[in-house]
Amino acid sequence: MPKDPAHDLADDTPTLAGFDGPAHVAIIMDGNGRWAQARGRPRLFGHHAGARRVREVVECCPRLGIKYLTIFAFSTENWKRTQVEVAGLMSLFRRYISRELRALNAENVRVRFIGDRVRLDAKLVQLMDEVEEITRCNDRVHLTVALNYGSRDEVARATKRLAQDVADGHLKPADVDEETLPRYLDTRVLPDPDLVIRTSGEARISNFLLWQSAYAEYEFIDTLWPDFSAAELERLCRSFGTRDRRFGAVAK
Ligand code: FPP
Repeated sequence: MPKDPAHDLADDTPTLAGFDGPAHVAIIMDGNGRWAQARGRPRLFGHHAGARRVREVVECCPRLGIKYLTIFAFSTENWKRTQVEVAGLMSLFRRYISRELRALNAENVRVRFIGDRVRLDAKLVQLMDEVEEITRCNDRVHLTVALNYGSRDEVARATKRLAQDVADGHLKPADVDEETLPRYLDTRVLPDPDLVIRTSGEARISNFLLWQSAYAEYEFIDTLWPDFSAAELERLCRSFGTRDRRFGAVAK
């Protein structure tokens, strides 16, 4: 697909100097409900405010040197919420994907989705497929949206495919090692996250990228997602730059 000439301009964004930030940031966007409740509004009001934050965060990635951004939009456990909230979220995703995510094409952002699409409605899946196709050649920022995603579910689905390859004779059990399973995960084309952020003061990982985050750095911050800002992301990236990542080895 030919590139929009605007992409070349966008690619010139200078990154922050003298700063060794994360290449892949993953975010658990939590606190929308509490943000809305604090304003006496329904929970969906918070989700809409949260959706507006996503654009700002994606747009500041090039300046911060973030090449991959992965956001947790809906978990395999979120179906347990009320029917009104689930239906409202699905309608928000449809609208958001057809407007906002499509618009990100002009900014050379590649959009992908991870998670199990089987339970999602056909119209939503069609929009997801379309935006993935439209942005297929983009490479300024790789935005991955986790939708009906759960890490255990992902590992189970991956294992099923791996087992099928063994049964079909494409893979020998003796050749399975820790490089094998990641090739079957939804994230197979992505590098592992360097930094995982969770907003809203909860210090848990809630079934998000469990395999992939084995050596990630974590930040649990009090800010509710609709209040999160580019400035806060910059602060967290700067703090990441000061960490000594040893990956199990001894400090130099
Ligand atoms: C968690 O907050 C948030 C969600 C389950 C939904 C996340 C969705 C968005 C930020 C909006 C849309 C995103 C895209 C990509 C369109 P919560 O409801 O659990 O908040 P609470 O813990 O305060 O109740």
